[in-house]
Amino acid sequence: MKFSTAFAGMVLGSGLGVAMAVDTSQSLASPATASVASPILEKRDAFSCYGSTNTSLSDCQGVIDTINAGAEQNFTLYANVCIVWDKGTCKVRLCAQPFISRPINRTASWVTTYVASPLLDGCISKGMMGVLSDHPNINSHSGTYRLWVS
Ligand SMILES: *[C@@H]1O[C@H](CO)[C@@H](O)[C@H](O)[C@H]1NC(C)=O
Ligand SMILES: *[C@@H]1O[C@H](CO)[C@@H](O)[C@H](O)[C@H]1NC(C)=O
Ligand SMILES: *[C@@H]1O[C@H](CO)[C@@H](O)[C@H](O)[C@H]1NC(C)=O
Repeated sequence: MKFSTAFAGMVLGSGLGVAMAVDTSQSLASPATASVASPILEKRDAFSCYGSTNTSLSDCQGVIDTINAGAEQNFTLYANVCIVWDKGTCKVRLCAQPFISRPINRTASWVTTYVASPLLDGCISKGMMGVLSDHPNINSHSGTYRLWVS
């Protein structure tokens, strides 16, 4: 399990084969689902599933357990910075958007709640990657964060 912070857009670690965290030039092929009003989501938050993956739910559960058990329970992320966790086939990335005026703050429990649902139950369990955002246009610079599970 790795915990690291890095600037988005750079290669984030050896476990990461992709550096597309906030590479908005790379569009997410037609989101399979997009939801704005699932009961546990804040009204303005949205998620999309995309692509296809064999990411294992149990690896992702391991990431959740590690985040919950971590010494860091509050995360402050400045513009364009990501926190990356990975275990086996599962990568979780929380990224601050590039043009935010104030750093974003999230708790470990916020991260793991939304990783579990909607991203694991809505996307990974169906063989797709997922991203949660506080702006419905995932590919834009709008909103303050993106939470990716791949
Ligand atoms: C998932 O695994 C199957 C069977 O091994 C393989 O054919 C497929 O290409 C894999 N898909 C991805 C996205 O890695
Ligand atoms: C982390 O944030 C929570 C909720 O915002 C707060 O109750 C807690 O005291 C914070 N913990 C630390 C170590 O700052
Ligand atoms: C997040 O916390 C930092 C440090 O306490 C603070 O400066 C910033 O304003 C907070 N961000 C938001 C959006 O409240």
